[in-house]
Amino acid sequence: MSATDFPAWSREVAGRMETVLDGLLPSSRIAPARLHDAMRYATLGGGKRVRPMLVFAAGEVSQAEAPRLEIASAAVELIHAYSLVHDDMPCMDDDVLRRGKPTCHVEFDEATALLAGDAMQSLAFQLLAENRLADDPRVQLQMIQLFAVACGSRGMAGGQAIDLDAVGRSLTLPELENMHIHKTGALIRASVLLGARCGRPLDATAMASLDRYAKCVGLAFQVVDDILDEEADSATLGKTPGKDREAGKPTYTSLLGLPDAKKFASDLLADAHEALSAFDARADRLRQLADFIVKRDR
Ligand code: IPE
Ligand code: IPE
Ligand code: MG
Ligand code: MG
Ligand code: MG
Repeated sequence: MSATDFPAWSREVAGRMETVLDGLLPSSRIAPARLHDAMRYATLGGGKRVRPMLVFAAGEVSQAEAPRLEIASAAVELIHAYSLVHDDMPCMDDDVLRRGKPTCHVEFDEATALLAGDAMQSLAFQLLAENRLADDPRVQLQMIQLFAVACGSRGMAGGQAIDLDAVGRSLTLPELENMHIHKTGALIRASVLLGARCGRPLDATAMASLDRYAKCVGLAFQVVDDILDEEADSATLGKTPGKDREAGKPTYTSLLGLPDAKKFASDLLADAHEALSAFDARADRLRQLADFIVKRDR
């Protein structure tokens, strides 16, 4: 497939993820059926699948095999989808629309949504533990560890705690950056590192460059999410816009204003490209993904 044909490649990855996740999630016919139903509802049939795309794109750099990348991306997407289920609950952002359909707790109930998120998180780690992702088992253990840190109190969950604590307050720019790096950046960074580590070992310089790319893209992702909350319409976004302002959340747009928030996102995009400058065409998917993440409209 031509390296320039990004739309076809992204559709291919998204389609493959749908099949893989469908096969890995417990059937709704197995008890407890309502819980399994909710897990499937929250994971399947929507979302841009950006994190799986990052896993696959990083895997191209290290020439990783597709079955390993499928498992790593399924794990990352399960964690992401669980984080959305919990993020939407009344105790957090209290949202009713996600990926163009009612949020999990609205479609089911709060207790089921809570448990679905819990079980999706467990399933993600189960997949990483029961499938071979690296030739060296010690490398695989390191991958599971880095992923656990990215999901936990020093990563995504910690970022969500900072986010809740910040409601109604104004943060300084470094504080806001710290919140975004954790709540969104950590999982995006883990997606790139996991994808890369599924393949041939890369030297320390190459890994550090990928890490720098991932940090820029991870922060840019949430800056753009903040911008879209201000600018996009509900039909395109698949969620209710304007919620950050309504809830009094500090965001890049509330702190910098729209023009400077956009400028910051494009500066981060330039930094992401710069981080990849030593790589050959194998990093083209990562380059295209960075462009997509910053220029997207949903
Ligand atoms: C939304 O993520 C939540 C954030 C971390 C900003 P996405 O924009 O990737 O949501 P989906 O997966 O496409 O629905
Ligand atoms: C969500 O950030 C981050 C995580 C779920 C970890 P937001 O609260 O801004 O995401 P949306 O806008 O609801 O998708
Ligand atoms: Mg939130
Ligand atoms: Mg939210
Ligand atoms: Mg948001």
